[in-house]
Amino acid sequence: MKKNLDKIVDLEKYPIHDLQSPKIKKIIEKCKSELKNDSCSVIPNFILPNSLEVMRKELEQQLDEVYMSKESINAYLYAKDDLSLPKDHPKRIFMNRYNGYLNSDCFAEDSEMKFLYETEELLKFVSACLGISPIYRWADPLACHAYNVMEPDGILPWHFDSCEFTLSLMIQKPERGGIFEYCPNIREPGNERFDEVRKVLDGDRSKVKQLELKPGDLQIFKGRFTMHRVTKIIGKTSRYMCIPAYVLDPWRVNTPEHSKAIYGKVLPIHIERNKARSDGLTD
Ligand SMILES: [Fe+2]
Repeated sequence: MKKNLDKIVDLEKYPIHDLQSPKIKKIIEKCKSELKNDSCSVIPNFILPNSLEVMRKELEQQLDEVYMSKESINAYLYAKDDLSLPKDHPKRIFMNRYNGYLNSDCFAEDSEMKFLYETEELLKFVSACLGISPIYRWADPLACHAYNVMEPDGILPWHFDSCEFTLSLMIQKPERGGIFEYCPNIREPGNERFDEVRKVLDGDRSKVKQLELKPGDLQIFKGRFTMHRVTKIIGKTSRYMCIPAYVLDPWRVNTPEHSKAIYGKVLPIHIERNKARSDGLTD
């Protein structure tokens, strides 16, 4: 069956197909200012309830293909200790992680989420909200629009993303816990701010913000510059998200180490494109 954007996104409320409409212009302005000041913006009830149910079902049908990892990891997504650094360096602080992904290459051809990710309308809308153009869909074949599964007791510790801009689309909320926490713009290109990062890893809450998402909400945020985490899932219900991502560089993919640790495998493209990043940040 042919898919249509108007069956997925609430275009009445959010006419992303017509970026010149006064309604969407107003929303874009609000998102832009939130992203600038807070590195994060939420668009409530962006996805229509029927489409949300389609997404939940397509994920549940493939739960056995989800790659669950339990490796403890640092905020830069490395599992290996670097003994040449001082003991209290943030790269040497490792945290428990229990989290899973349905990799993007497992998605069915007619997947609702894949269709949404591949629409020009969503790309152009996100670009307008960020006030950055061009942005690109991520070339990483495993990570570009993965479903994220956090089972009971699942936890996602403090980290930075490899991609610059991450969308988080909540599909299913857990009974309790699973709260998104973030430290807006804690690092920037060329400036890691390791002292600030260490304070947060040591438990300082002064720069930590919390966000409670509801199913259907779309969050846009700058995951490469904003350290973030998801608190432990409590109760019997898993937390389901979809994490479509956008980047500044259409060529780059995850490093082989990240791909192995987080998505469970390394493809030739990860090895071919494993070059140093131009923004000078740990990746
Ligand atoms: Fe993340």
